[in-house]
Amino acid sequence: MKTKDHSVASSSSSSSQGAPVDTQLRAVAKQFLCCTPVRTIQWNELLEGLTWEAQERLLDATVDHPLVLRYPLSIEYQVAFLKRLLTDLAAMNVEPHDRMYERYCAMMQAPPPTDLPLDDPSIGLSYKHYELPQGQGVISLKESGAFVSDGTTGLCSWQAAKALCEHISNNRDDFQGRNILELGSGVGLAGIYLAKCFEPSIIVMSDCHSSVLGALRDNVQLNFPNAATVDCDNPLVSLLLDSGNTLIGVMELDWQCVSASNLSQLIEPDVIVAADIVYDHTLFPALLTTLNYIFCLSNNRCKFVLACTERNQDTLSEFLQLLITAKFRINEESISPSRHFHWDSSASNIRIFTISRS
Ligand SMILES: C[S@@+](CC[C@H](N)C(=O)[O-])C[C@H]1O[C@@H](n2cnc3c(N)ncnc32)[C@H](O)[C@@H]1O
Repeated sequence: MKTKDHSVASSSSSSSQGAPVDTQLRAVAKQFLCCTPVRTIQWNELLEGLTWEAQERLLDATVDHPLVLRYPLSIEYQVAFLKRLLTDLAAMNVEPHDRMYERYCAMMQAPPPTDLPLDDPSIGLSYKHYELPQGQGVISLKESGAFVSDGTTGLCSWQAAKALCEHISNNRDDFQGRNILELGSGVGLAGIYLAKCFEPSIIVMSDCHSSVLGALRDNVQLNFPNAATVDCDNPLVSLLLDSGNTLIGVMELDWQCVSASNLSQLIEPDVIVAADIVYDHTLFPALLTTLNYIFCLSNNRCKFVLACTERNQDTLSEFLQLLITAKFRINEESISPSRHFHWDSSASNIRIFTISRS
């Protein structure tokens, strides 16, 4: 028969492998908060012999975390997480905490959000919370759990954006105090990370899709609640905030509609960044025109940091070849494993390039 273990796990208590339970617990909570697929969560023996009190702390740090209660992760994800916990604890003959069952049942019974209007772009959007290194807080993003929703790939954060965040962390001098423009920002992970942790002088995040721009604006405002709104006479800039050291903008910039007149209203960036924008070769001419305009604007003094997911070798090669033909220089960077920013660096198809032109 299973017995309830009500013993108190102090913060110095250890798992069977000797690592402090609190350290393991924080590591699991960090993965939970940004919706790391449940099957890939690194539990690091946390579940073995998890005491009743440690289970409470695990719930407090995950499904009952104040941030999650206020800005919920997708219910499907939370259900999958609790189901995995309940199954594994049962298999280890550890009695799950009553609260774990209660939360699981309540979530299973939660009515699907069918009363939302069908054209509401927030359908299918929930929150993910990305913990920042060195206690710098959290980035909370409203995003989709699906790779494609509302006809766009821009409503979720992609691996290349996470790899770019790690790259930025390892090259902070290239970004601090700079004027930065992000292309194809999506819901804003890399741009908001830059704005929060690296104090650029200006960061303008851009995209072309109306739902994406809406989510991007909401996410910027959510992560900079105390920043002052600044008036801007550029009609393409729909949000401009002053966070103290950094101006943070959201701009509509469709590579297919770029002209000298609308780009002349842009900041002159020192650095352009982009993640996962090289996947559709029909967009390459427009993207190249956009890059040409921006590089000309800065007399070729800017550089472009591009993080790609190589899904198809030919597609990426085609784009790189177009850059070479347009006299850009390409330097491939090494991929940094996850150290500052949590991401799955075992994905071997991420490539990062620094692109310049003299
Ligand atoms: C795969 S998503 C990447 C989003 C984000 N950078 C990330 O990595 O999480 C590609 C992004 O490029 C944007 N995009 C596609 N075509 C575009 C265009 N013509 N002009 C501007 N942005 C575009 C999409 O709206 C989408 O946000």
